[in-house]
Amino acid sequence: MDSVVEERRRSRKYDILLLGATGYTGSLTAEHIVRHLPFDLKWAIAGRSKSKLESLASKLKELDPERIQPDIEVVKFDDPRQLGSVVKNSKVCISVVLYWQVGEVVVKSCVENGTDYIDVAGDIPLLRTFIDQYHEAALDARIACSPDRKIFSPGPQRESWRRRADVSGGTASSMLAESTYDSQSLKEAKEPWVLSPIKRSQTSAPTNFLNMRKDPTLGLLSRSSFSAEQNRALVHRTWALLQDTDQAYGPNFEYNEYIKVSSAVGGILRLLTLVLVRGALKFGPSRRLLGLVLPKPGEGPDVEKERASRIKFEAIATADTGSNPVPRAYASFSYPSGSYHTTALFLAQGAASLLYTRNLANHVPGGCLTPAFLGEDLWKRLQNAGAVLRVNLL
Ligand SMILES: NC(=O)c1ccc[n+]([C@@H]2O[C@H](COP(=O)([O-])OP(=O)(O)OC[C@H]3O[C@@H](n4cnc5c(N)ncnc54)[C@H](OP(=O)(O)O)[C@@H]3O)[C@@H](O)[C@H]2O)c1
Repeated sequence: MDSVVEERRRSRKYDILLLGATGYTGSLTAEHIVRHLPFDLKWAIAGRSKSKLESLASKLKELDPERIQPDIEVVKFDDPRQLGSVVKNSKVCISVVLYWQVGEVVVKSCVENGTDYIDVAGDIPLLRTFIDQYHEAALDARIACSPDRKIFSPGPQRESWRRRADVSGGTASSMLAESTYDSQSLKEAKEPWVLSPIKRSQTSAPTNFLNMRKDPTLGLLSRSSFSAEQNRALVHRTWALLQDTDQAYGPNFEYNEYIKVSSAVGGILRLLTLVLVRGALKFGPSRRLLGLVLPKPGEGPDVEKERASRIKFEAIATADTGSNPVPRAYASFSYPSGSYHTTALFLAQGAASLLYTRNLANHVPGGCLTPAFLGEDLWKRLQNAGAVLRVNLL
C-alpha cells in the first residue's frame, strides 16, 4: 500500500464508515459486513436518525454478539464540518445514501478529508458531476472514489445479460429524480462514452428492429435493460483510464449489455416495459402516479425472498484479432442471493479491498475510478464470500 495513504490512515478510529446504513441497501451492507468481514473490524454505522441506527445496531448484535460492534454516528449532511469530522476519522467510507439528494456532499467530504470512498451511484449526470468536480482533486490527494456497480471487466469486446428483481425505494426515488434532468443532460447520459475521458463513436453489435440479437452461446438477447447505458458508460471509462497501460483492453474495445430472453415475444414484452416506464417517467402526471405505486424510501423487495434467489451475469468476450474463426471467451458470475444482496457484497468487499490491500490497477494513486481498478484482489474477496466466477475459451 502507498506509504502516504498508510501514514494518513494511522490515527483514524474507524476502518470503515457506512453512511446511509439505515436504508434498504445500507442495512444489507451492514449485515454483509457482520457475516463476512474480519471480527475485529473497527467500524461505524452512520445516518441522520439515531433511533433507526440504534435499532439496526441491536439487529447486528443479534447476528453476531462476539465480534466488535459498530459505533453509531449521527451525521448532519447539511453541516460539512460535522460530517467532515466523522469522515476524517475513517479510512474507507461506503456511501449508500440517496445520491441525488446528498451523494455529492459525501464525495466532497471524502476528497477533502483524505478518505477512500465507494458507492453504487448509477445516475449518469450525477456521476459526471463527481468526475468533473473531484477526479483531479482525488488523484492529487491519493483518494480512490469508485462507483462499484456490478460489472464485468476482463477482455476485449463483450456482451452480457442480467436479470433485475423488484426495485428498492432508493432505486425508485433515483429513477424518478433522474427523469427530471433537462433533455440535453438526458440525451448526453445515453452516449456510450459519456464518462470516458476519451470520446469515440460506438459501432455497436447489431440488433434487429426489435432490439434483439442472437448469440451462439448466450441465445436470444434483448437490449432492454434499465441499467445497460449506465454500466456501459462505466466500463468505457475503465477502458479509457487503462489505455496505454499493460492492462489495456485494446483500441477497438466496446461493451454492450442485454437481458437474456426465452423467446421473441418475451423480448418484445421487455422492450415494451422499458419504453412504457421511460415514457411514464417523462411526464409529470404519470411520474407522480409511478411515485405512488413504486416502493417508498427504506422499502424494497422482501429480504428473505431476495436472499433465497440467485443472481447470474454472463459475458462473451470477442477478440478483434481479424482471425477466422473469431476467438471468443465466456465468463459467468453467480451469487446465491438476489441483486440487492449482490450490491451489498460488492460494496462491503470493495471497501475491504480498499482497506486491506488498496492495490489499484496500473498503480494509480487515486481518482474517480471504477470497480475494475480493484482487480484480482476484489475478485478473490467476492469468491471467498460465496460468489462463483467461471472463465473459459470457447
Ligand atoms: N446501482 C445499484 O445497483 C444500486 C442498488 C441499490 C441502491 N442503489 C442506490 O443506492 C441509494 C440508496 O438506495 P436504498 O434503496 O437503500 O435507499 P433507502 O432505503 O431509501 O435509504 C437511503 C438512505 O439514505 C438516507 N437519506 C435519504 N435521504 C436523505 C437526505 N436527504 N439526507 C441524508 N440522508 C438521506 C436514508 O436515511 P434515513 O433512514 O434517515 O431516511 C437512508 O439511510 C439510492 O440512491 C439507489 O439508487 C443503487
